[in-house]
Amino acid sequence: MLLSWLRPNSFKTPHIIGLKITTHVVCLYLLIEAFYLAFTDQIGGDPVQSLTHFTGLGGLILMLITLAVTPLTRYLRQGQLMRMRRLLGLYAFAYACCHIYVYLAYDLIFNWSLLVEEIIKRPYITVGFVAFIILTALAITSIPSIMKKMGKRWKTLHNFIYLAAILICVHFLWSVKADITEPLLYMGILAVMLFFRWEKLMRYWRKITASSTGSVSS
Ligand code: HEM
Repeated sequence: MLLSWLRPNSFKTPHIIGLKITTHVVCLYLLIEAFYLAFTDQIGGDPVQSLTHFTGLGGLILMLITLAVTPLTRYLRQGQLMRMRRLLGLYAFAYACCHIYVYLAYDLIFNWSLLVEEIIKRPYITVGFVAFIILTALAITSIPSIMKKMGKRWKTLHNFIYLAAILICVHFLWSVKADITEPLLYMGILAVMLFFRWEKLMRYWRKITASSTGSVSS
């Protein structure tokens, strides 16, 4: 019974619908519960810091799960699993939006000029901001009609997810003041995800360097 799971492409549309519903329930429940506990003062001494931590870490974990879908699909030989990528990526973006909202609303009290100052002055905020811009571009272009219009350029743009993931790990590392074990752990997981795509990343890198040396020599 269990082994029938491992037959190539035994995953069908109902399984994916089940997985999608589970993803919606888990992601929304955890997010709503975190905000509820914060607003009712049940989340610890510093609710703003706890919420920043929860939403930031949630966004990073969801991003790593999104990156795990392709190698997992190949390993299990379940092509249908690829249909989970978009939803997981959009939840990573939603958590990142909440993370920035908490910082902007409760730390900076919507002081936009202070936000600009922080982005310029603090390197860990600068890299977090660049990662957020990339995530925003990826979320907008995941709308099917835009995806269609973009054609081949869509894939090129969506390769920026790797850069965003690296920047988020750096943002995490630079944001901690003492023990760096946790950010290093997430960096290790990301390194494994990138290792699975080593050939693709090398091909991509050669393309970038070839086009930049081409433009310098021309
Ligand atoms: C403008 C963009 C961003 C701002 C202003 C921002 C702000 C912050 C702040 C204030 C902290 C807490 C640092 C501390 O404890 O002193 C933090 C931590 C963190 N952020 Fe961001 N962030 C941004 C983008 C992102 C994005 C896009 C992600 C990924 C989804 C992310 C993930 C994290 C993580 C994982 C942590 C560490 C959580 C912890 O242990 O406290 N951040 N960020």
